[in-house]
Amino acid sequence: MAQGSPTNEGEHEKVYGASFAIYDDASLDDFIRFLATRFKANGIDPVSEFAGKRCLDAGCGNGRGALFMASHGATSVDCIDISPSNVTTTRRNLAARGLDPDRVIEGSLQAMPYEDASLDFVWCNGVLMHTDNPDGCLNELSRVLKPGGRCWLYVYGADGIAWYWVSRARAVIREYGAERCLRVLKLLRLDVRYIAEYIDDWTVPYLRTYSAEMFSARLRSAGFTDVQPLPRGVAYDTNHRRNLFPEDADWMGEGDLRFLLTKTSKAAKPVERLPADPENTGKPFHPAIVQKFATLFDEYEAVVTGSLLLSIVTSADIQRTLRDMLSREEPFSPDAFHAAVSATIDLARELK
Ligand SMILES: C[S@@+](CC[C@H](N)C(=O)[O-])C[C@H]1O[C@@H](n2cnc3c(N)ncnc32)[C@H](O)[C@@H]1O
Repeated sequence: MAQGSPTNEGEHEKVYGASFAIYDDASLDDFIRFLATRFKANGIDPVSEFAGKRCLDAGCGNGRGALFMASHGATSVDCIDISPSNVTTTRRNLAARGLDPDRVIEGSLQAMPYEDASLDFVWCNGVLMHTDNPDGCLNELSRVLKPGGRCWLYVYGADGIAWYWVSRARAVIREYGAERCLRVLKLLRLDVRYIAEYIDDWTVPYLRTYSAEMFSARLRSAGFTDVQPLPRGVAYDTNHRRNLFPEDADWMGEGDLRFLLTKTSKAAKPVERLPADPENTGKPFHPAIVQKFATLFDEYEAVVTGSLLLSIVTSADIQRTLRDMLSREEPFSPDAFHAAVSATIDLARELK
């Protein structure tokens, strides 16, 4: 897509706006705790990263990154998001916790209203791969950081059973749209973080994944060092599991790509824009994954297609089963996952 052409980023209001708005105080605290756990697991001290710093939460969602940085001593925290509802939600959450809501603005990462080299820390968690122009946004993150400034960045690593499943669920559900999906998921009374995750995975207009090598090269060219992905995380993070259970590497794919980067003093060479395929994957799915699950997921698709309710309820069940399996302190069992999906397909057939 050429620069200046219409984008699908308007859909973010539906995909993220409504789901981020329904976090209550306790769910927001839980959501922030995952960030603390990831810092701890990688031996990163949040106080030494944030205390006394001018920080930005880029693509803030409900502002959990901002709250995390502020609670560890950030001097100021600016927030920007493209979704007007997320701006309202973040303002509300910041104000409720004694922070300045006026620093939250609506806008795109692709053209941010901050001066060159004006920030000490940029937080950008789970955003770039959902933007229309990830490379343009990456250049902007680098531009606004001071030399020596730091950046927390998370993008999706390519391949792995989790993204393979999501790619198949998207094929069934995306056409129903985020709003209808949200209405059904609310009926199930799932924890809000699962509702938000499923809507994001199944309906977001841009979902790209990267190989570690490909993304690290882009980071270098945007003027960053420390471009090795962090090895640890919470129990189900695929980077964490790759390290905990090396025998699972083919099933986990590249693993989640989280970085704690440093901006160099050298002028960045702007990253050139990749072709804008909204679903591009940095690498094909591993043959073992396709061999084991392609026919099963074809069968799933054939059974549930045409029924909104059945598609959403069973996809939520399958995704939760996978998450639970990937949270256990044992290697992933493709056979057990296969059996669980088969049982769900049988049930779907009965309920149809
Ligand atoms: C998956 S959510 C992540 C939210 C938050 N960073 C977190 O970790 O909880 C992605 C967020 O990026 C925002 N977003 C997507 N494209 C954007 C863009 N071009 N500029 C600014 N925000 C954008 C969405 O509205 C959404 O709030």
